[in-house]
Amino acid sequence: MKKQVSIVFSAIVCLFMWVSAPAGAEKNFVIGFSQATTTEPWRLLFNKELRQEADKHPEIKLTVRDGMDDAAKQAADVEEFIKMKADAILISPKVAAALTPVVNKAFDAGIPVFVLDRDLANDRYTQFIGGDNKLIGRTAGEYAVNYLGGPGKAKGNVVEIWGGSASTPAQDRHSGFHEIIDTEPGIKMLTKPNDGDWKQDKGYEIMAEALDQNEKIDLVYAHNDPMAYGAYMAAKDMGREKDIAFLGIDGIPEEGIKWVNEAVLTATFLYKTPGDEGIRQALTLLKGGKIEKRVILPTMVIDKNNSEKILRDSGIVK
Ligand code: FRU
Repeated sequence: MKKQVSIVFSAIVCLFMWVSAPAGAEKNFVIGFSQATTTEPWRLLFNKELRQEADKHPEIKLTVRDGMDDAAKQAADVEEFIKMKADAILISPKVAAALTPVVNKAFDAGIPVFVLDRDLANDRYTQFIGGDNKLIGRTAGEYAVNYLGGPGKAKGNVVEIWGGSASTPAQDRHSGFHEIIDTEPGIKMLTKPNDGDWKQDKGYEIMAEALDQNEKIDLVYAHNDPMAYGAYMAAKDMGREKDIAFLGIDGIPEEGIKWVNEAVLTATFLYKTPGDEGIRQALTLLKGGKIEKRVILPTMVIDKNNSEKILRDSGIVK
């Protein structure tokens, strides 16, 4: 009897030691990351940097879900993170309106939510991290004005190819660009608002139609590099690519910067991927630190003046 009691007692002691972490050991943090899509290289770089940053911290238990370009699937992914009582949720929403309710639900349940790259319809979340898309649009507008003859003298026909029109980056890239362009009476916009959904093939289609309808096109402003490249391919297929300047946005080495360096694109504007910063910010908060409501990532102009140097510095060109 005495022996049985002591076995039960030692079992209880062992169980207690197993459930309570030894003094000084770090707490684990369950982090769920909901990515909008993985179809573009920019997204793959984003995921890679996010995973690499998380891997530096063994206390982070990371789950990544791909929304596969479908807002309903992405909302279900976030629901799953809420159910598993994640310590923090990171999300890069495909569109603003359809993903705002589920993010608000997570936030109201007390889960810190970090919104990356594309913003939502309200700010009931913990933090936003991303580029300043209005500033990027304005910078592209200034570049276009200078390319077409300079402020007050610019002249030319412009095609704009939109990203996903229900997303905040597309809306801000459009309005920032127009703040500058619309003050130039010599610049004519050829296309009405369209939706290229950030995809290269849609950029090709929108440009093919614009080429069919317009004899003279001087400049294309696409809301990202894949669509600028698609537009270039459409012009090339019609033998008109040499007459047109192509501007894109993103500026990742393997795409935009390489295309600028090959003189396919005239310029691109850096839109830094926010994955690594997202992990750093979440961890700071989870460890009791203070964080800002908005973290804005830097941009820069990339054209033939600096593309080769950037590629050399990143080891892509020897
Ligand atoms: C990738 C992407 C980028 C773009 C960003 C905007 O899915 O389309 O090319 O800069 O999303 O949210």
